[in-house]
Amino acid sequence: MTTQILNPNTDASAIPLAASLLRNGELVVIPTETVYGLAANALDPEAVRKIYAAKGRPSDNPLIVHISDFDDIYPLVREVPETAKHLAEKFWPGPLTIILPKSDRIPDATSGGLDTVAIRMPSHPTARAVIRAAGVPLAAPSANISGFPSPTKLEYAADDMTGRVPLILDGGDCAVGVESTVLTLAAGTPRILRPGGVTPGMLREVLGEVEIDKAVLDPLGKDETAASPGMKYKHYSPKTRVRIYRGSRKGYLRYFDRHPAPGLFALCFEQTAPLLRVPYVTMGKENEYLSQTQRLFDALRELDEAGASLAVAQCPPARDIGLAVCNRLFRASGFDFIDEAPIVGLTGQTGAGKSTVAALFSEAGYHIVDTDKLAREIVEKGSPVLSVLAEAFGADILDENGGLIRTRLAERAFCSEEKTALLNSITHPEILGRTAEEAFSFSERNIPCLLDVPLLFQSGADAFCDITVAVTASFETRKHRIMARDGISEDAALLRMRAQEPEEYYASRADIVIQNPDGGDLTKAVRAALERIQTNGVFA
Ligand code: TXA
Ligand code: MG
Repeated sequence: MTTQILNPNTDASAIPLAASLLRNGELVVIPTETVYGLAANALDPEAVRKIYAAKGRPSDNPLIVHISDFDDIYPLVREVPETAKHLAEKFWPGPLTIILPKSDRIPDATSGGLDTVAIRMPSHPTARAVIRAAGVPLAAPSANISGFPSPTKLEYAADDMTGRVPLILDGGDCAVGVESTVLTLAAGTPRILRPGGVTPGMLREVLGEVEIDKAVLDPLGKDETAASPGMKYKHYSPKTRVRIYRGSRKGYLRYFDRHPAPGLFALCFEQTAPLLRVPYVTMGKENEYLSQTQRLFDALRELDEAGASLAVAQCPPARDIGLAVCNRLFRASGFDFIDEAPIVGLTGQTGAGKSTVAALFSEAGYHIVDTDKLAREIVEKGSPVLSVLAEAFGADILDENGGLIRTRLAERAFCSEEKTALLNSITHPEILGRTAEEAFSFSERNIPCLLDVPLLFQSGADAFCDITVAVTASFETRKHRIMARDGISEDAALLRMRAQEPEEYYASRADIVIQNPDGGDLTKAVRAALERIQTNGVFA
């Protein structure tokens, strides 16, 4: 079959030709504001069967029926509830599909044998003009080969449908970029079967209660039936294998360093791209969901074009239009997630209550990275650091068994600033490296961890933390806590406190500051900090 491509803006014959083809039971690819659609007369079972054949679509997956005026809905359904009228007033024409009990005029071929029908009024002027000119409602799934990403550009619709349809109408790039929100009013509380440009929040403003079908974000269990048959199929998948990274941005960047592989690409937000050292395809701006829906399907196709074998994708929080992005991404990946837990750096002045905070994090399931322990381990008998130290400070810092004589090393290292600096330059990078490695290995197993590092910022350990927490307390509280803890005099406590950075030092650097209330309880503040760290599982 030869395929003509016409632009109705420059060719006056385009719409009449489309209308006559459709009336004669042929297929036409039309642009809509969501994605390009593969249209046929919804009331003609023979025409509708051609859609399934052209797409290679399973015949039990029902089609959306597109209308151009609200009154067109009456012959298609058994009854139009008030809620449907309210929704139409607010969101039609636009990216919302409403499911209602169908009338006898809807053939089984269109409804996939269901007793309901999905109806939508698109806002794209070409789509509306074609429906009006054809004079019949149009069944139109996305104009892609079944299973592949929906086309949002003429080029991609033509890639998939050339040779399969007589006519493709050029309507430019689709404004929304993902398919319409599918909402069922056919049973009980209104329920979103597929998220899209009309968000749960927008629907709740009109309807009050709105449910989100479990299949929107979770794979169907073996014995579960899909409320929307489209949800049971693997969907939107490019040839490239896609995996979803859920963790921090630092973790995302680190992933590529720690898991190099041939053909590995990042599928990332624009802000992340300049930080990467692997090839990437962008999918919109972080925090701008509409820019993400506009880019998502194109990006999946671009990965194939670039010859990527594996793409690791960033993922927005599953709210607002981000819910639609997650839904499509999760399906494109076949629910293949890389979940990495946060790495939290804890610091603060001595006596402020760091160890209490660490204990509360530990209770909450955090692994505590003990840097003191790591510092001891690096100078264990036979360690490479120990031989470097022996070279720098004298072989006799080791006993006859090769063990470190700590007092002797201290004597030699703390006698001058220069020698202290030499000691630190040998030991600190090693401790830092081990701290990082331990933290990464837990994070990668999705176990959150807390680094208890007194000199968090001074040592540079904050660089690999996703978030930093500082504990501060009033001068008096700290003084009394140090005296009680270490059993020392007021003067000795003051001496220790003088060696510490002031409160502002921590407050201005840490992401979260926990102020230890005088004689009070830290639990509430720690709980709030934990919640903030866990919000959405996404933290910058
Ligand atoms: O934005 C859109 O909706 C695009 C453009 C072209 O309008 N169309 C589209 O159609 O995405 P399609 O066929 O690719 O997706 C229709 C979805 C499928 O998941 C299908 O299972 C579901 O809607 N659906 C259709 N009728 C249904 C019904 N009666 N009950 C439950 N789900 C239904
Ligand atoms: Mg589709």
